[in-house]
Amino acid sequence: MGLGEQDISFSAREAVKKADKIFLDVYTSPFLGDVSHLENLLGKEIILADRKLVELESDKILDKGKTIVFLVVGDVFSATTHSDLWLRAKEKGMEIKVFHNASILTAVGETGLSLYKFGKTASIPFPREGSIIETPYLVLKENKDAHTLFLLDLKEEVMLTANEAIEVLLSIEKIKRERVFSEKTLCVVCCALGTERQKIVCGKAKELLKKKLNVFPQVLIVPGSLHFVEEEVLSFYRV
Ligand SMILES: C[S@@+](CC[C@H](N)C(=O)[O-])C[C@H]1O[C@@H](n2cnc3c(N)ncnc32)[C@H](O)[C@@H]1O
Repeated sequence: MGLGEQDISFSAREAVKKADKIFLDVYTSPFLGDVSHLENLLGKEIILADRKLVELESDKILDKGKTIVFLVVGDVFSATTHSDLWLRAKEKGMEIKVFHNASILTAVGETGLSLYKFGKTASIPFPREGSIIETPYLVLKENKDAHTLFLLDLKEEVMLTANEAIEVLLSIEKIKRERVFSEKTLCVVCCALGTERQKIVCGKAKELLKKKLNVFPQVLIVPGSLHFVEEEVLSFYRV
């Protein structure tokens, strides 16, 4: 699907025309448009695929005798869920055609940060009382001079904000004290990238915490070492 409401490719639209059934994954990434508008655009009914349908009832999607289109926001293989669905379709002997598109994993290039210099990507889950998941902090530490992209958890309509993600990293720093992340750490936040509402801001964690960013979804990036061209582009987004 790409990131914008109308970014679906010509070739994917051709596949839609031939489809017996169309599903839209609303589990791994939110669709940033109006579903009925998309239905009008494609001229077909769309079935929303939530977590239950995608993860537990995939047989309802993978109907071997039919031509099925499974729409994914962004690019297909930037969530493990879809490799799993691909495998299950293969196991059933279904023929698969993938149409690639822009992903949040590549759209972050608009920040000026070189995609070649990103390290491992990490997800930050919603904080749960009494338990802290340290993985994002450990990934940041491991990435050293490379840039770190944090995808932020979403549960149905609720999305973790970049500022909540900063709070999570600060709270882990308080426990581990390994000087991996502090209020002075430079951060970049991308909101609703690839849409009309997109916003990119860059500043120290402390500065971003004072800003109210209410355009969703969001990702948080902690840049590693910066080339002067990266610094120059980032300066356009400084708060
Ligand atoms: C599993 S990832 C998305 C994978 C998607 N298939 C792709 O290729 O972009 C979902 C997370 O990416 C981030 N995200 C997705 N779309 C975004 C956008 N347009 N702008 C900013 N962040 C986005 C959010 O943090 C969201 O929770």
